[in-house]
Amino acid sequence: MATGSGRSRRPSRRKHAPDTVGGLIAACATRLDQAGVFFGHGTGNARDEAAALVFHELGLDHGDAEQAYRLSVTPAALARIETLLALRIASRRPLPYLTGEAWFAGLPFCVDERVLIPRSPFAELIEGRFEPWLDAGKVQRILEIGTGSGCIAVALALAFPEARVVASDISTDALAVAATNVARYGLEDRVQLLCADLFAGIEGTFDLIVSNPPYVPEGDLATFPPEYGHEPRLALVSGVDGMESPARILHHVVPFLTAHGWLALEVGAGSGVLETRFPAVPFLWPELTNGGDGIALVSAGDLRATLPVSN
Ligand SMILES: C[S@@+](CC[C@H](N)C(=O)[O-])C[C@H]1O[C@@H](n2cnc3c(N)ncnc32)[C@H](O)[C@@H]1O
Repeated sequence: MATGSGRSRRPSRRKHAPDTVGGLIAACATRLDQAGVFFGHGTGNARDEAAALVFHELGLDHGDAEQAYRLSVTPAALARIETLLALRIASRRPLPYLTGEAWFAGLPFCVDERVLIPRSPFAELIEGRFEPWLDAGKVQRILEIGTGSGCIAVALALAFPEARVVASDISTDALAVAATNVARYGLEDRVQLLCADLFAGIEGTFDLIVSNPPYVPEGDLATFPPEYGHEPRLALVSGVDGMESPARILHHVVPFLTAHGWLALEVGAGSGVLETRFPAVPFLWPELTNGGDGIALVSAGDLRATLPVSN
């Protein structure tokens, strides 16, 4: 459950007139800070969230932010932004649920409260095609377990244009959202969506298996900011120590990997618990330059050597 910022393209900190987009973003950021809302569902601070809110409502392009900051705002647009800002503050719903859109790996995705808001640090590894660990040229089949909005599956399909992706989730609600996003990118022929409890019903072997499963200890959720309460509990909570789903994946993954395959498993702050539960497995923990952590990489060979096969 990473809290990274999906898109932070902030122009210079120069002061803008109050009736311009730049001035309005500064004013919204102050309001968000004063209200004490939590950031971490696509943006990491008040200014980035204010920019996302204003740009969305005005239909502006983040690629042209310098220019956009100087534009003036009409009273009608100002009223719409005030409504959205007030709703964000009063409801504590994360902004992407209010706008219906979140960004992952530089791509927009449709989201609503049926899915976790995309924010996984997997984006960086996908963009780098999991090199130098994976031999990307050999990747023909990829499995993503717990696809949610489908953001990881879509990004994988785009990063590995020769590969076929199977993306599963136990939630039919989440799969409906994923289907929208797969269609949005025209990937229906290469991304297959499946309703499955982890590996149940999954067939064949895969060169890469990726999962950002739920990994929050069940007692922790009540201590989180109210924004998390709007996300599906099924996407967050995973047993007493958070490692129920990750451990089930590890116990069953071996028969589903090709000889040169890799498992990439996000466990966030659960890395220590995972290492304790699987002391023989030589997990690699790649350093991520864009922020976030807690992604374990482990090869099929190392898994075969250290885990019993339980399928
Ligand atoms: C942390 S969310 C990840 C969503 C998406 N992959 C992302 O990174 O934004 C975990 C997802 O796993 C799904 N899930 C939970 N338990 C599962 C299970 N036993 N089998 C398959 N999927 C499961 C949830 O429905 C949720 O969509």
